[in-house]
Amino acid sequence: MAHRAESPTVVRRRVAELEARLHEAEETLRAIRGGDVDAIVVYGPQGERVFTLRGAEHSYRVLVEAMSEGAATLSVDGTIFYCNRAFAGLVRLPLERLMGSKLVDLVAPADAPTAQALLSRRGSGAKGEVALRAGDGGAVPVYLSVNEMRVDGDEMLCVVATDLSEQKRNEEIVAAEKLARSVLDQAAEAIVVCDAAGRIIRASQSAHVLAGANPLQARFERAFPVQPLPPEDPDQQSPPRDAAGIALAALEGRTLRGVEARLDRGGAGVFELQVSAAPLPGARGEQAVGCVITLTDISERRRHEEERERLLSRVEALVLRLQDALRGRDEFLSIASHELKTPLTALQLHLDGLLRTGSREGDEPLQAGLRERIEAVKRQGRRLAHLVNDLLDVSRIRSGRLDLTLADVDLAAVAREVVERHRGEAQLAGTDLAISVDGPVLGRWDRSRLDQVITNLLSNALKYGKGKPVAVEVGEAAGRARLAVRDHGIGIAPEDHDRIFHRFERAASGTEFGGMGLGLWIAREIVNRLGGDIRVESALGQGARFLVDLPSARDAGALPGVEPAA
Ligand SMILES: Nc1ncnc2c1ncn2[C@@H]1O[C@H](COP(=O)(O)OP(=O)(O)OP(=O)(O)O)[C@@H](O)[C@H]1O
Ligand SMILES: [Mg+2]
Repeated sequence: MAHRAESPTVVRRRVAELEARLHEAEETLRAIRGGDVDAIVVYGPQGERVFTLRGAEHSYRVLVEAMSEGAATLSVDGTIFYCNRAFAGLVRLPLERLMGSKLVDLVAPADAPTAQALLSRRGSGAKGEVALRAGDGGAVPVYLSVNEMRVDGDEMLCVVATDLSEQKRNEEIVAAEKLARSVLDQAAEAIVVCDAAGRIIRASQSAHVLAGANPLQARFERAFPVQPLPPEDPDQQSPPRDAAGIALAALEGRTLRGVEARLDRGGAGVFELQVSAAPLPGARGEQAVGCVITLTDISERRRHEEERERLLSRVEALVLRLQDALRGRDEFLSIASHELKTPLTALQLHLDGLLRTGSREGDEPLQAGLRERIEAVKRQGRRLAHLVNDLLDVSRIRSGRLDLTLADVDLAAVAREVVERHRGEAQLAGTDLAISVDGPVLGRWDRSRLDQVITNLLSNALKYGKGKPVAVEVGEAAGRARLAVRDHGIGIAPEDHDRIFHRFERAASGTEFGGMGLGLWIAREIVNRLGGDIRVESALGQGARFLVDLPSARDAGALPGVEPAA
């Protein structure tokens, strides 16, 4: 630092020099303002520049100083070489700082291009709005008017800046008021603003409609004589007694939310309302200067609620009747199938007796063709018995009465029996029926129910198998007993794989293939009850493979809800 080394004498001399220059500058300013000088020298990047003030008459200068608008004279490049006190006041900077500075530097950055454009369009007397950057950091909106003038052949600019702050504030107030009005007018709710005396001073469009008359200047309770209703929940705070009480509560500083009330407007009808009220605190947070009350018409909602409740109770009654009817149907099914079973069994016994008569030694041989006809009747009888049994099972399963009797069973033996029973039927259909068994497969199962499962699967394979070979396999897979029934018939589309295991669900054409859609449902119920599962692998036209997996002897412990046989 060079000046540190300087002697006190040199420093003193420098200070004196600077003081002299400051004094000179102040004097110059005073002289310019008072009109005592005609020119100033500005030091800038282009070196020293002299601006003459000769043209400015003293009286004009005094006038300019007295103006409330900011006024400045600029060189064509925008350098301020004179401005009045009002201009300095606008930007809240000392006059000395302004002289010699660029006007554009005083403009908020966002507005700098606008200001620059105004200065370059000077010829026509350009006008526009910009924000000036005040010395305290604030922004001052101004209206700038730039005019060109010639002083003794020198081109100069004359700028007048009008403060728009006040006007902007007013515009903001007007805009806020407009916003409040539009909010009030668009609100679906009736909204009113009351003064400290409870008189309505603002009202939304809906409030006018709800009141049925102009509510302005009326007391709230006169315009809206609502009757608060006791709350449904007895633990809730009880609402004010009347409309006056609602306004009073809010004016006393309390907030009420969703008070249910009724407004009886005589001929115009009764309105169900939800009323909310809140105080309007004063500027300094002292006592409320008024309150805002909102009235929401919930008559429509109430009507819908009542309608919904009415419908709901009708639906409930219908469901009860339906359940009753279903119970009745199940009972009927159960009784009817029991009643059908008895004569059917007797019929089959008689047919067996008839067949035996013809075959015993010494008996008259049966008339030609009669045996076949009796056999045919027997087959139909078996089919009928099968249907009746299925119906019986439906009611058993539906009422949770499908009882299982567990015993040690060989799945392979049961499968063989079922296959043998179906030999005749397979022959009639020209189907090659094979069984492959890998030794006994033991488990604790219900023998006759297992028989039923295999029967249902095998009769499906014969029915839907198009006469192509059918194979039954019994073995073990992954520690579980496995039964598979394979055919090469019409097959089942993947989207039907789940559905066909449901009650009365069928995927094949009803006219081509008879059936009630019960066989697989019953099979699945039994298999599930035995702790196993059943599924199908198939595609349309590719035949089907039904797989049943059952817990084998090792893990067939206690099954839920199953009574083990003694
Ligand atoms: N092996 C199969 N091949 C092709 N489709 C089958 C086969 N097994 C069952 N389905 C389809 O699954 C449906 C349901 O079978 P399910 O055994 O439950 O009823 P059903 O055979 O129609 O009548 P039933 O009550 O007499 O058994 C059948 O209608 C058929 O569309
Ligand atoms: Mg079936």
